[in-house]
Amino acid sequence: MTARVLLAGATGVIGRALVPLLRARGHQVTALVREPSRAAGVELDDIVVADALDAGAVRAAVAAARPEVVVHQLSTLRGPAAEGLARTARLRTEGTAHLIAAAEAAGAERIVAQSIAFATAPRGGPVLTEDAPLHLDAPDPGWALTTRAVAELERRVLGTARLTGVVLRYGTLYGPGTRYHRDGAIGAAVARGRLPLPEPAAGVTSFLHVEDAARATVSAVEADTGGVFNVVDDDPAEAAVWLPEYARLLGAPPPRTVPAQLAERMLGWLTGYQLTAMRGAANDRVRQALNWKPATPSWRTRLAAD
Ligand SMILES: NC(=O)c1ccc[n+]([C@@H]2O[C@H](COP(=O)([O-])OP(=O)(O)OC[C@H]3O[C@@H](n4cnc5c(N)ncnc54)[C@H](OP(=O)(O)O)[C@@H]3O)[C@@H](O)[C@H]2O)c1
Repeated sequence: MTARVLLAGATGVIGRALVPLLRARGHQVTALVREPSRAAGVELDDIVVADALDAGAVRAAVAAARPEVVVHQLSTLRGPAAEGLARTARLRTEGTAHLIAAAEAAGAERIVAQSIAFATAPRGGPVLTEDAPLHLDAPDPGWALTTRAVAELERRVLGTARLTGVVLRYGTLYGPGTRYHRDGAIGAAVARGRLPLPEPAAGVTSFLHVEDAARATVSAVEADTGGVFNVVDDDPAEAAVWLPEYARLLGAPPPRTVPAQLAERMLGWLTGYQLTAMRGAANDRVRQALNWKPATPSWRTRLAAD
């Protein structure tokens, strides 16, 4: 069955990969954009204009698109970190509320929204399921703001009265346009030997190629079921494994090691946490319920490839 899909975030990293996949499956894709010129080069069926933080504008734009499915891929993490985190938290709380209200008013049936697989609290085993609690008590104010906003997004999407809600908790994205691309912030740091390896580096990362994120989103658009799903590859890896391998793939020298206690000061809280304590995520549920599996099962084959 094909559907009228409203995509908020069509000009973003996942959105740009998602639009051609949806259209190839016969879906009619309308993008909700705040600035139409940003959609240049994205082949869409239609465009509606609204800032996601403006409830009235979102309502009018979604009404005009008359979608059956709404896809929420909104974030705004570029630029100064604190500002990006605060605005992205608002997109996850207020933006989500506006989209849900507008989708319900327009008679939509489903909403599919982006969340984060690595927002779980670092407790329990190295690889966690969707049932693990979120890191709401994170010691870093920016990360606590993020995990609380993610929790609110998930509560709203899964708690709508009139829509079937799907939450896709994407893993650490890599591929074109991401921080892990060789030109991205992390790729460039690893290539220059500027991302040291804490000792011990027991944090676990579950990676996800952008194309696999887009493919999983198509599965979620087309499914009947709702729920929360980790969307990650099959190869969760400790930093002690992936960071030296990433450096090798980039042709960079092996990362130098630093004591774990210095990692936070040298790398910032979030990267230090990722490398020393973060947990990976299991993808059993999405495989069964949405019949999705990663086309790139391991980051090893593509982390440095695009
Ligand atoms: N799981 C993960 O690892 C994960 C998750 C999210 C982001 N990231 C990383 O963060 C970087 C990109 O971050 P990004 O946050 O800039 O995401 P992005 O994927 O580049 O863009 C997000 C989308 O949201 C739209 N948007 C933002 N604010 C809006 C508003 N007020 N109203 C309407 N639309 C709005 C943007 O539109 P405009 O084109 O107008 O800006 C864009 O289409 C990438 O490196 C990505 O890999 C990683």
